[in-house]
Amino acid sequence: MELFSDSLLRVSSHFKRLLLTVNLIVFTATAELILVPEELDKLEGNTLHWRIYGAPTGDVNYTWYRGSVSVESNMILSYTSSPPSWNLGPAYTGRENTTLQGFLSITVLELRDTGNYTVVVTNNEGSEETTGYLHVWEKLLQPEITVNQTIIVEYVDTVSFTCHPKNTGNFQIRWYLNYDLVSEGYQWTLSSDNRILTGWVKNLQSGPYFCEVSNPVTSARSNLLNLQIYYGPDSIVMSSSPLVILSTINARLGSRVDMYCKTVSQPPCLYQWLHNGTDLYTTTSTLTIHSMSWRYVGTYSCIAENPKTQVLLYSNVTLTAYEFPPHKSNPSFTLYQGHVILLSIGISLGLLTLIVAFIFYLISKR
Ligand SMILES: *[C@@H]1O[C@H](CO)[C@@H](O)[C@H](O)[C@H]1NC(C)=O
Ligand SMILES: *[C@@H]1O[C@H](CO)[C@@H](O)[C@H](O)[C@H]1NC(C)=O
Ligand SMILES: *[C@@H]1O[C@H](CO)[C@@H](O)[C@H](O)[C@H]1NC(C)=O
Repeated sequence: MELFSDSLLRVSSHFKRLLLTVNLIVFTATAELILVPEELDKLEGNTLHWRIYGAPTGDVNYTWYRGSVSVESNMILSYTSSPPSWNLGPAYTGRENTTLQGFLSITVLELRDTGNYTVVVTNNEGSEETTGYLHVWEKLLQPEITVNQTIIVEYVDTVSFTCHPKNTGNFQIRWYLNYDLVSEGYQWTLSSDNRILTGWVKNLQSGPYFCEVSNPVTSARSNLLNLQIYYGPDSIVMSSSPLVILSTINARLGSRVDMYCKTVSQPPCLYQWLHNGTDLYTTTSTLTIHSMSWRYVGTYSCIAENPKTQVLLYSNVTLTAYEFPPHKSNPSFTLYQGHVILLSIGISLGLLTLIVAFIFYLISKR
């Protein structure tokens, strides 16, 4: 138990050391001596090496300073190559050393390591000096994302996302919708620090939304947030069986009539049907008349309403009826299929007789 809490303590103190990444900008004060970062790994806990180019060989004293001025109070440490020996200065933090070539190494970089570093290289012929700049970037932690509401009516409601970074240094905040960068414009506005994204949304913009913090060497993104978007209906379409033609359904008496009302919306619409303006108390999108009769003719209205967006649309159709057979009132003229065939045979025979008679007449006339 003792051991466990001890290692836990060490882990947490390790995290507390603002785990860092590094970026280096190097310039030289003199043409002869050049400082170049070597084996620079941008991940936390790694060691930075400053490589020196153009240094003299032989018995050399390398003295490293924090800052751009080589004064005693700024000295980190010095190293003499033969025999190898080290002297520590007031700016030594416990994380610096030099290689046997005099290169400065810094382990477990911290934000406060940002700044200038100066080296003075001395041998019996004289000394040279150069300065390089080191920028240590914060390791970015996952920011948190919150939203004022997750159920949004398209075009109507305003949604407001807030990004809560866990870092304090310099970083940029960006917003993404469905992995595309969100930019300020007619739909979205950003607070001056980019932490708050406010706007309206439309259908198909349910997400995912996330914010991202970044600096020149690293980035971290928040969790993904999704919205539920209420939208529509944008249109109402009526169809029927038998087919509706020019807003009219012509149905045979006794036949079945189905009228369909179609809308696209979220949540689905609630329906109401009227016949000549009278509520039929049908709440489905389909209205069925099982057997058409005269009492069903008239105007039918389908009213569709989205209870969340409060958009209401309606469509009208006229239902007319026809009788089949068409002249029920005069049954003596009714021709049934069997009779029709017989009649046509009769007519054909009659025609044939006429033709034969005509030919016979022509022949006899000669
Ligand atoms: C290197 O030179 C500096 C400055 O003259 C001196 O303070 C330091 O002791 C020398 N280092 C060694 C290891 O001799
Ligand atoms: C630097 O490293 C060498 C071994 O490479 C070691 O002997 C020396 O004590 C170290 N100096 C410091 C100041 O840690
Ligand atoms: C509906 O209106 C039509 C046309 O105006 C009319 O012929 C029909 O009788 C009406 N039916 C009912 C039930 O009101």
